Amino acid sequence: MLVVDDVAKLRAILKPWKSNNVSIGFVPTMGNLHAGHLSLINRAKDEADKVVASIYVNPLQFDRPDDLSRYPRTLEDDLQSLETDGVDVVFTPSDKMIYPDGIEMSTKVDVPVISRILCGAHRPGHFVGVATVVCKLFNMVEPDVAIFGEKDFQQLMLIRRMTEDLNLPVKVLGAETLREENGLAMSSRNNYLSAEERDTAATIYRMLRSLAERLAGGDQYYPGLESDGKALLEAAGFIPDYVSVLRKIDLQQPAPEEPVKDLVIVCAAILGNARLIDNLQLSHYLAAR
Ligand code: PAJ
Repeated sequence: MLVVDDVAKLRAILKPWKSNNVSIGFVPTMGNLHAGHLSLINRAKDEADKVVASIYVNPLQFDRPDDLSRYPRTLEDDLQSLETDGVDVVFTPSDKMIYPDGIEMSTKVDVPVISRILCGAHRPGHFVGVATVVCKLFNMVEPDVAIFGEKDFQQLMLIRRMTEDLNLPVKVLGAETLREENGLAMSSRNNYLSAEERDTAATIYRMLRSLAERLAGGDQYYPGLESDGKALLEAAGFIPDYVSVLRKIDLQQPAPEEPVKDLVIVCAAILGNARLIDNLQLSHYLAAR
């Protein structure tokens, strides 16, 4: 496995592959890897001949300096996991490599509408940071296919939109959310939870499933579902940012009788020191029911 922190070196490694039509699968991450990340790597291996992963904690997408400074950094362990998993190249750029003249001077990518709602409304600037860094990484790696987790559903939608709007020649694929045994979606931010809070955090998935069951049973009064979801989280000790039933294609308000399979329930809530996000696509729920 090759580890490079320089774009010119990265391009030199990838060039012969590209000219020999060797396909490249790409998995961007911020490190502190868990089984969820590694499932994306395995998917990339299925989809392409070579796999490139990146580890970069992107300051532009953090809306609070304390959130950036405490973000877990575990490079040595991460490289070990990626090597074991059979990754070909890991790109570990510095801030200077990504934003050579500083963040202020850097060109930004702003995807309208979707960047402003849900997590975008609660974390101003976050999605400009995500779109900008992913666009830059796509231009550095030039992958044929890139894999993103459905866990960050809004992020996946945003990247699909950006890729389409900017005509980036990358196939963007979503991969299913990996969960702990109790249903809690795996996340680097789960490290901020105590053992007791981790048990409590499983309430999110229970809540999502109970709303999904009501939708499947014909209850499509969305405001009622959303306020019941929030109340469940509050009763367990969360401070919810949002619980919303939306159209999964564009994360907009669904019609009163929208086909249930076309809906997604998204939520974000604070528990102790962690802001947790999760979602449930009704198509997945109905298929597994
Ligand atoms: P990060 O939070 O490290 O996540 C990297 C990728 O792993 C994302 O596509 C995310 O959706 C996916 N992922 C996280 N938890 C998962 C889980 N439990 N199951 C499946 N996939 C999961 O998301 C980012 O980094 C950054 O915003 C990034 C895209 C790298 C841009 O900086």
